Amino acid sequence: MRIVRTQVGIVGAGPAGLLLGHLLHLNGIDSVIVENRRREYVIDRVRAGVLEQGTVDLLQAMGVGAGLRRAGLRHDGLYLSFQGQRHRINLAELTGGKAITVYGQNEVVRDLIDARQQTQRPIYFEAGQVSVAALASSAPTVRFQHDGEECEVRCDFIAGCDGFHGICRPSVPDGVLTNYERVYPFGWLGILAEAAPSLDELVYTYHERGFALFSMRSPTLTRLYLQVPPDEPIERWSDDAIWQEMMTRMSTRDGWKPNVGHIVQKSVTPMRSFVAAPMRYERLFLAGDAAHIVPPTGAKGLNLAASDVVVLARGLRAFYDDGDTSFLDSYSDVCLRRVWKAQRFSWWMTSTLHRFPDETAFDHQRQIADLDYLTGSRAAMTSLAEQYVGLPVEVALEDVGLTRHLHSGA
Ligand code: FAD
Ligand code: PHB
Repeated sequence: MRIVRTQVGIVGAGPAGLLLGHLLHLNGIDSVIVENRRREYVIDRVRAGVLEQGTVDLLQAMGVGAGLRRAGLRHDGLYLSFQGQRHRINLAELTGGKAITVYGQNEVVRDLIDARQQTQRPIYFEAGQVSVAALASSAPTVRFQHDGEECEVRCDFIAGCDGFHGICRPSVPDGVLTNYERVYPFGWLGILAEAAPSLDELVYTYHERGFALFSMRSPTLTRLYLQVPPDEPIERWSDDAIWQEMMTRMSTRDGWKPNVGHIVQKSVTPMRSFVAAPMRYERLFLAGDAAHIVPPTGAKGLNLAASDVVVLARGLRAFYDDGDTSFLDSYSDVCLRRVWKAQRFSWWMTSTLHRFPDETAFDHQRQIADLDYLTGSRAAMTSLAEQYVGLPVEVALEDVGLTRHLHSGA
């Protein structure tokens, strides 16, 4: 068996694991990243696209913002659309200049994998049979098979960054974690199309036939979503049927609609809210989707993964610099305060903008009134705006050894 010794064993090379690995590297802390998929698979997965201001600032300060500066699309506002009319919410004006940036998760992951490989610190792709053990000891281990060889990573701590379906959360003994969950009676059919975005900001649409979302990835790629039943087989939707439904739901009375183009990717994602608490068991720390997931309506998933790992990096830095365990001890509480607010926001955006199979005519009128109020009240728009651009993270960039980058906010 090959034995590898490190300080922090990281399971999963999604945004959470890669960000943590690089933050630790910048603080002189060694790690080994173990990922069960191929490098190309991890990069090519089409997922989130909206980065909060704080996530942009973090990537810049970490020195991995070159791609973001080159190709990220800064949005100062977004639209809410209902009853055939679009209403703009000016995020920047309502939040003292904050904005969101559209930059695909796969680009973030590609940039972070490149940065990892430049550090020469280990990252194992295509690891088989990954397991964690001795979590309650001072020397926990990550075991896996790689290139036909049995490997064991011996570390001080394990970061479970292996997503909702990973092995870290289920490795916590029964009775330790409390799971909070809400499953929604719908999913999102998402497409990526070779079409220039017909507008330079996102449009969230509430329509009689269900929710729809207009987004983008680049000046030549449009990303669109439709509310569908949760277990909808994607084969049921021909490209023509998808475009027809997109147009029906999204077209507004002023003549705006998305541009049509060749569909290069399509899939259906079920929607759920989930939190496992606490986010720690002894020497195992859960971060990102391994600990919580949100329905994508608030665009929070990737951003929560980023804020978790900043809190964790501060705890690990204090431990290695001064033997101070207090920040590791408060990790779960600090993260969960922000996680629950993002959960509430994502649930609220989802509830406000989707049609529910069991809703009454009263519920429908109430939803229209909610949207009418929201788009007519500066107070309500300010509340949406400050949550959409991202609530503050309790840990400052300086607390993890970073200084704010000159290009911050670009
Ligand atoms: P992940 O990105 O899931 O990364 C976990 C990593 O761990 C993966 O690379 C996985 O391969 C690896 N792994 C899993 N099991 C093991 C194992 N046993 N051993 C080793 N490695 C393992 N958010 C939005 O805001 N907008 C969206 O449109 C959106 N769409 C989504 C679509 C899908 C299909 C999914 C699943 C999520 C989507 N999200 C979206 C959520 C967002 O992508 C996640 O919140 C984000 O990826 C969280 O990052 P993470 O690193 O915590 O988890
Ligand atoms: C996306 O561009 O993929 C996207 C944007 C906003 C969301 C969810 C997904 O709320």
